[in-house]
Amino acid sequence: MDKLVIHGGVPLRGSVAVSGSKNAALPLMVASLLAASGKTIITRVPDLRDIETLSNLLRIIGARVEFYDHTLAISASAISHTEAPYELVKKMRASIYVLGPLLARFGRARVSLPGGCAWGPRPVDLHLEAMKKLGASVELDDGYIVAKAKRKRLTGAKIDFKISSVGATGNALMAAVLAKGSSRMTNAAIEPEITALAKFLVKMGAKISGIGTTTLEIEGVEELYATRDENICDRIEAGTLLAAAAITKGHITLTDADPLQFKEVLKKFELAGCKIKTTASSVELISPAKLKATNVEAKVYPKFPTDMQAQWSALMTQADGTSKITDSIYADRFKHVPELNRLGADIELRQNSAIVRGKKKLQGAKVMSTDLRASASLILAGLAASGTTEVLRVYHLDRGYEKIEQKLAALGARITREKYDEFAAPKPDDD
Ligand code: UD1
Repeated sequence: MDKLVIHGGVPLRGSVAVSGSKNAALPLMVASLLAASGKTIITRVPDLRDIETLSNLLRIIGARVEFYDHTLAISASAISHTEAPYELVKKMRASIYVLGPLLARFGRARVSLPGGCAWGPRPVDLHLEAMKKLGASVELDDGYIVAKAKRKRLTGAKIDFKISSVGATGNALMAAVLAKGSSRMTNAAIEPEITALAKFLVKMGAKISGIGTTTLEIEGVEELYATRDENICDRIEAGTLLAAAAITKGHITLTDADPLQFKEVLKKFELAGCKIKTTASSVELISPAKLKATNVEAKVYPKFPTDMQAQWSALMTQADGTSKITDSIYADRFKHVPELNRLGADIELRQNSAIVRGKKKLQGAKVMSTDLRASASLILAGLAASGTTEVLRVYHLDRGYEKIEQKLAALGARITREKYDEFAAPKPDDD
């Protein structure tokens, strides 16, 4: 297994390019299933384990998927299977996205129910409700969602999401574009990943209006066509790299970044005392001598993203004063807190908030990754800590950050990837 070994205390300096977004690429890949002929090309796709897992799922379904130099070519003309097996869905919850497109194109789908995840239950009821509204029968059988459209075609419907959900909006959108008649979705998610998906579907021939707003109107079409598109930047990787600069009192510039996609995060960096300069495709961050304690609350876009709150918690351990980090999307998403405390942080959990008492001297130690963004927060803490920090089980990190250690090293961080034997490694309780 791999671990990251960090010798902290070096201020990051220089410039680094942001990768394409994982969370945007996954729905685009699935949307390519809607084209009955041709080859869909998606560029700027990050080379990550989740992309590989979804590619394998698409292959099992019968698509041809090639990935070379951050470009995906997907041909879905010979789909033979409409089943997403447990073995792949359990590796990645985003697999649930195949439900909508399979149902829309073939009138049936059998998709394993995804389980919970490291930070608690993650329901899919809104996805299923949306499919029912579009005229599908939905049953649960042996851990599988079995959905069938009447007379093999979905019908347009009004869908009012009771909670704004990125996953359910994306799934319902991919189903409605091929349905008979028109659909109207209210309280739809407006995250950049959904806007990117809607624009991609329009390129494929879908008729969608209201893109970028919470009300989407869709006029179903008979057929969609393969297309070519460039993926958007990873706003969470961008935020994580900026936090790495801020926590080390550094000065960095991100290129290939779209600052409009993470305005709220940039605002929080400014409130924390960082100087931010942006252009249409770059962000420069200059750290202050002293970071100011700054509260954040993770909420639906355009508010602060849940995918950045763990990293913000790490950053605030070095701020002057006490900050409150609240997650109103996932109340239990705080697995990073005990590990950050092992490095010397002073963080207390109160319901769905972390109370971070700042200006704590962090001291390197061995820490355990529990999930993707928790791992990122541990790296940030390691960059600020004195001595050596070892972040174990970085396979979580490899799901969502492409070669993060190389990007950080290019900015001057002393960080290396090394192999270790999991069973010889100390258990958390042993330290
Ligand atoms: C969420 C984040 C997304 C992030 C992802 C992984 C939001 C709004 N979404 O997406 O940006 O990339 O986690 O970290 O911040 N829900 C239901 N029933 C459903 C679907 C969702 O109750 O069928 C609830 C969820 O439990 C959650 C909320 O709705 O409280 C938002 O869900 P959704 O946006 O779908 O979550 P993810 O797709 O997991």
